[in-house]
Amino acid sequence: MLFTKWGESRDLNSTLSSDVVESFQSEIMDWWSKNARDLPWRRNPTPYNVLVSEIMLQQTQVSRVISKYEEFLREFPDIERLAAAQTKHLLRTWSGLGYNRRALWLREAAQQIVQRGFFPQDEKELRNLKGIGPYTSRSILIFAFNMDLAAVDTNIRRVLISKGFASKDTSEDELQKIANSLLLKGQSSDWHNALMDYGAEVLTSSKTGIAPTSKQPKFTGSVRQIRGEIVRVLTECDTLTLDELISLLKHRGIKHTEILLILEKLISENLVDKDETGRYGIGES
Ligand code: ADE
Repeated sequence: MLFTKWGESRDLNSTLSSDVVESFQSEIMDWWSKNARDLPWRRNPTPYNVLVSEIMLQQTQVSRVISKYEEFLREFPDIERLAAAQTKHLLRTWSGLGYNRRALWLREAAQQIVQRGFFPQDEKELRNLKGIGPYTSRSILIFAFNMDLAAVDTNIRRVLISKGFASKDTSEDELQKIANSLLLKGQSSDWHNALMDYGAEVLTSSKTGIAPTSKQPKFTGSVRQIRGEIVRVLTECDTLTLDELISLLKHRGIKHTEILLILEKLISENLVDKDETGRYGIGES
């Protein structure tokens, strides 16, 4: 049993009545009709544009994605050009978004799609693409094709909890079922945009005290930050010896051994190449 902000109780195990569902839908859509955010990836939501934005939004804040999304599309305006992208060009354009592997996966997904000759339009096929899990496959179908599916990100989860449809302990599976039953059919794309905006603008984490389930690990001083630094330095240079690389990174106080270990990992992921003379550069696979 849960108590909503109006004090009435709601049994989380019972099915939601159509009155409750419709009144929630109206409240959200009424608010959204006056308060929708103007986000660049909403202006022309082609399957390719949605694929790019959803991958960018996986682990990066909306404010950071806003400034990179349009630049990325200027460099790679269509799926063919992304599929043919040079690694260095790709990573230079991705710079600032973090998790460089996502850029390589995105290119791999683009290559898979170009090879097939059509953009997949079902969950299973999308999940076969590199870097696309259950949430992203559904969000692509929702935003690119307005399919009657539900997806729950951290903003939407917070809305469901704050409005008494779920609790902080509700499992992912259960949240998914609740979101399915609240879906505004026929307007799935608008519905999800509205819920995300409501969560980001009204029921914020600080106002509700509801933290995301997976907290982002600390970035400063992390392996992820050093990885990012190494990749950034290498995208700005041609190739570098280990000594050159170390001297470019030494003001960060990063240890040799740590750099070597991270380089090995980056090589195994094809992000970095070591040539026959021992120079490091961005991988050209
Ligand atoms: N997070 C993930 N997808 C999003 C979207 N389409 N709009 C805003 N935030 C998002």
